[in-house]
Amino acid sequence: MSQRLALLGATGSIGASAVEVVRHHPGRLAIAALAAHGRRVEELAALAREFGVARVAVFDEAALPALRALLPPGVEALGGTEGLVALATDPGVDRVVAAMVGAAGLEPVHAALAAGKDVALANKESLVVAGGLLTALAERTGAAILPIDSEHVALHQALRAGAPEEVRRLVLTASGGPFLHRDPASWEAIRPEEALRHPTWKMGSKITVDSATLMNKGLELIEASHLFGLPPERIDVVVHPQSIVHSLVEYRDGSWIAQLACNEMVFPIQYALAHPERWENTFPRLDLAALGQLTFLALDDRRFPSVRMARQALAAGPSAPAVLNAANEVAVAAFLGGELPFPGIFDTVAEVLDRHRPEPVADLAAALAWDTWGRRQAEEVLARLARPR
Ligand SMILES: NC(=O)c1ccc[n+]([C@@H]2O[C@H](COP(=O)([O-])OP(=O)(O)OC[C@H]3O[C@@H](n4cnc5c(N)ncnc54)[C@H](OP(=O)(O)O)[C@@H]3O)[C@@H](O)[C@H]2O)c1
Repeated sequence: MSQRLALLGATGSIGASAVEVVRHHPGRLAIAALAAHGRRVEELAALAREFGVARVAVFDEAALPALRALLPPGVEALGGTEGLVALATDPGVDRVVAAMVGAAGLEPVHAALAAGKDVALANKESLVVAGGLLTALAERTGAAILPIDSEHVALHQALRAGAPEEVRRLVLTASGGPFLHRDPASWEAIRPEEALRHPTWKMGSKITVDSATLMNKGLELIEASHLFGLPPERIDVVVHPQSIVHSLVEYRDGSWIAQLACNEMVFPIQYALAHPERWENTFPRLDLAALGQLTFLALDDRRFPSVRMARQALAAGPSAPAVLNAANEVAVAAFLGGELPFPGIFDTVAEVLDRHRPEPVADLAAALAWDTWGRRQAEEVLARLARPR
């Protein structure tokens, strides 16, 4: 029988790749429920018709009337975080694909794991905000958190080559983004369109800006630490502009195991949905001779301080990554809105982290409260740093 998915964030970049994987495997995968923010209800309704889903949800309740008008009769439409949580815990759903962007993913992901459902997780922000809580919860309910991020899917595969005590360190690869070689003296002038031109991946706007600041790698370092149970000092980053080696594990005998594939998200998504199996597909194959060379260089964390800030936040204590993530979300939105210069993203995150005194995060309410605190602080910082539009 097909595995029935709830696809949350269905209208985004990961959502589209997940739909492609489902279309590729009609006998194995089916979509039972779909959700998004509500900005693209036509696309959501078209997917609902194509897959014959029973339930659809939008975070933005104001989008519900337009959505209902487009859905076939009998399809239930839900709104708000409760709507997303209802889909994530639906008894007719076997596995939840968390492909929404931002900390808004936390509550549905938490609910899915609490209900014992496996989560294929693209929404790294939820693990950054509440990684300790989510991994402990998954352990209690027996649910699996299967990463979709290509780096973590690479590590998941490379870690199958040895025992946990044989692992020396994890190495995340980073493309370096569009400003890898751009002189920081000109960063004030960077326009959002330039930051949105990623050299190797086609992604949603928030993660594309995160890739330009390398905050994406900082978030991934925190994500990797929670997923694979290693402290920040045993997770490194190396810049690899071609994005073909997706990450590596170094074992204690000096052997390295790397995972390679074309830089298309269908590969890691299929891995997460097929796990523990491996399925055939007809997606594009890697041609190493055609690629010619793969290059690697050290991360310059004086120019790109995000990974260092993420590492420090993770080491500082459970509330600090939630605060870092919140400040980053607010700063990226302000940059995309033309209100904050590009380097202002680093300044905002650094100042909010400076104001924060880390504390334990006992439950979901505490994690959400730290997210709110970080956003408020970031708004205050922005009021000073932002430029008139
Ligand atoms: N794109 C990639 O290649 C990639 C790779 C690795 C990891 N990721 C991670 O995957 C996640 C999604 O990234 P993306 O690039 O696919 O983003 P995206 O293209 O911007 O799509 C975001 C999706 O989330 C929905 N959404 C936004 N806010 C929501 C909310 N509050 N509640 C429910 N749904 C909401 C959007 O709905 P609307 O269409 O209605 O706005 C859209 O469907 C991010 O966490 C990102 O870091 C992405």
